[in-house]
Amino acid sequence: MNGAASTDSSSPTVLKPRSKKPKYSRFSQQELPANKLILTPGFIITVFIAVGLIFISLGLVSLFASDSVVEIINRYDVDCLPSDYKNNMVGFIQSSSTNKTCTKSLTVPKQMKSPVFIYYQLENFYQNHRRFVKSRSDKQLRSKGFKGDKQSMETCKPVLQSTDKSLIVPCGLVAWSLFNDTYGFSVKGKSLQVNKKDIAWGSDKKYKFGSNVFPKNFQNTDEVGGAKLNSSIPLSEQEDLIVWMRTATLPTFRKLYGRIEQDLQANDIVTVVIQNNYNTYGFKGTKSLVLSTTSWVGGKNSFIGLAYITIGGICLFLAVSFILLYVIKPRPLGDPSYLSWNRNPSTTSRTLS
Ligand SMILES: *[C@@H]1O[C@H](CO)[C@@H](O)[C@H](O)[C@H]1NC(C)=O
Repeated sequence: MNGAASTDSSSPTVLKPRSKKPKYSRFSQQELPANKLILTPGFIITVFIAVGLIFISLGLVSLFASDSVVEIINRYDVDCLPSDYKNNMVGFIQSSSTNKTCTKSLTVPKQMKSPVFIYYQLENFYQNHRRFVKSRSDKQLRSKGFKGDKQSMETCKPVLQSTDKSLIVPCGLVAWSLFNDTYGFSVKGKSLQVNKKDIAWGSDKKYKFGSNVFPKNFQNTDEVGGAKLNSSIPLSEQEDLIVWMRTATLPTFRKLYGRIEQDLQANDIVTVVIQNNYNTYGFKGTKSLVLSTTSWVGGKNSFIGLAYITIGGICLFLAVSFILLYVIKPRPLGDPSYLSWNRNPSTTSRTLS
C-alpha cells in the first residue's frame, strides 16, 4: 500500500523521474501485422484481364437487352400542319377555328409485347429553366384551402390570378403549360384501349399533390397555356398534370402518356388520331409520339452497354500492353537503381537473356 511506503522514514525515498515512454504495445510501436501490396506485373495484368472480361460481358448483356426493346418514334408536328399554314404555324395552332385533328399510320416492325408504353417527346423545350422550374407553389398543391404565403405565391407569377382576380389552383407556369395533345389508337379498325392509370410516381400522388385540393380558375387567364383540368377531380388523381410537373432535366424529354395493354404483332398498322393542339411552333420545338416496350434495363438505350464495353476494352488493351512491355523489357523487382538516370551499367543487376 502507498501509506506504508510514505510512513517508512528510515530509508530516504528516492524519487524516480517518471518515464515519458508510453507503455509498450504493438499498436504504439507499429508492430501490427500488415499487408504490403506489391504490385507485380503479373498481378496487375491479371486484374486488368479479369476486369476487362467482366465489363465486356456485362456490356454485351445489357446491349442485347436494350436491343430487344422495340421502339417506334414518329415526329408529327410538321406532318400535322396543313400545307396552307406552312408560313403561319403559330397562327394555325392559336386559332380556334382550324381543324387540329391529324391521322398517322405507324407500322410495327417487330412483335411488341404488352405493356406498350406511350410517350410524347418534346424537343427544345426548356422545362429546366430556372424561372420556369420555380414557378409553382408546392404548398398549394398539397394543402387544401391554402390562401398563399407571400414567398410561395410570388414565384407563381405571372400565372397567379385569373382575369377576375381570384387565385388560380394550381398556380404557376409549370401547371399552366400542361401538354394538351391527345392520341387515339386503333389497329385494323378496332380501337386500342389506352390505360392512363398509374402513369405518375406513387410518391408524387401520395405526398406532393393533395387528394382534397381541386383545380380552381385554371386556364382562366387571357392566354391559354395548355390543357384544362376537370375541376371535380382532385389534384392527386390528375396524373397527366403530375407527370408534367415532374420537370425534365434536359430540353429533349419524354413523358409517359399511357399504356396499351395488349400485344401488337409485327407488321400491324397502328392508326393514330392526334389532336395537334400544343404550341411548339412558337419556339421551334418538335413533337414526337413514341411507342416502346421495356426490358430489365428499361427503354432502348445503348449507353450503359457501350460504356461497359469501352471500359472493358481499355482494360484489356492495358493488359495486353503490359504483357508486351513486361515480356520485351522486364525489370527486376525491387531494384531502384534501375530507375536512376545516370546509373552505372555495372551496378545494374538487370538481366537480359
Ligand atoms: C392547347 O395548348 C395551346 C398552347 O400550347 C393553346 O393555345 C390551346 O388553346 C390549347 N388547346 C386546348 C384544346 O386546350
